[in-house]
Amino acid sequence: MNAQDRHRFQDDGFLVLPGFASRRQVETLRRRANEIVAQFDPQQGRSIFTTRNQAKHSDDYFLGSADKIRCFFEKDAFDENGELKQPKELSINKIGHALHDLDAVFERFSRNAGVRAVAAPLTVDPLLYQSMYIFKQPQIGGEVNWHQDESFFQTDPPSVVTFWFALENADRTNGCLWVQPGGHRTPLRERFVVCDGQASLEKIDSTPWPDADSIVPLEVELGALVVFHGRLPHYSAPNRSQQSRHAYTLHVVDGRAKYSALNWLQRGPHLPARGF
Ligand code: FE2
Repeated sequence: MNAQDRHRFQDDGFLVLPGFASRRQVETLRRRANEIVAQFDPQQGRSIFTTRNQAKHSDDYFLGSADKIRCFFEKDAFDENGELKQPKELSINKIGHALHDLDAVFERFSRNAGVRAVAAPLTVDPLLYQSMYIFKQPQIGGEVNWHQDESFFQTDPPSVVTFWFALENADRTNGCLWVQPGGHRTPLRERFVVCDGQASLEKIDSTPWPDADSIVPLEVELGALVVFHGRLPHYSAPNRSQQSRHAYTLHVVDGRAKYSALNWLQRGPHLPARGF
């Protein structure tokens, strides 16, 4: 990251670094993700969608994944009888949320010198809190509504930075990211908090989400890194194409900032968040 890159990040709230990861690195991550999915028992996830206590099971499965590696299904993966409409490997929405600490392949990539070098000017004491492997499956890849990642990682002062690695080409047809350049200077609209085991998304500012005139699609090629400010509004459309849109994300916060006890993702002493 040179001085011009740093200025661009400050001005726009994001930066695209084409060709950041090699094809070989990308293939290694994709192969490992496929292995994790192959080992995943779909019954585990299926019950979440089909039992009467669906919301509670779903919350528990999600909230319990902060320090684990768990697979999550696409919302549209099941038919009305609770059966998968397509093979398991084409039904998973994402794997989360501690791949970077618990899986040797993802740990090696997440803590490589290149990632550390990008993080260095942005965070003084970087701690890697969360990782996700996102599949954005063909045809059923779900929409991700406008949000700011800071809503999920509140620190005082704000510090979260997102690393988004393209593991396939991403464009408008398969649900690439859309961002609002400069939107990191707008207020934080929502916060996702957990109180007494109950998760909720609270509205804290009424500033509207960006309109169509102020947003840009980030169409990037396999290997690109998009690094963005925790307050940058971003969104991705459903994927109705025949082509998946795999990505790997990391969320890094500054260890000097106070990490909110209300954040859903908490790391206990058995697996504290670590740096590079
Ligand atoms: Fe996000």
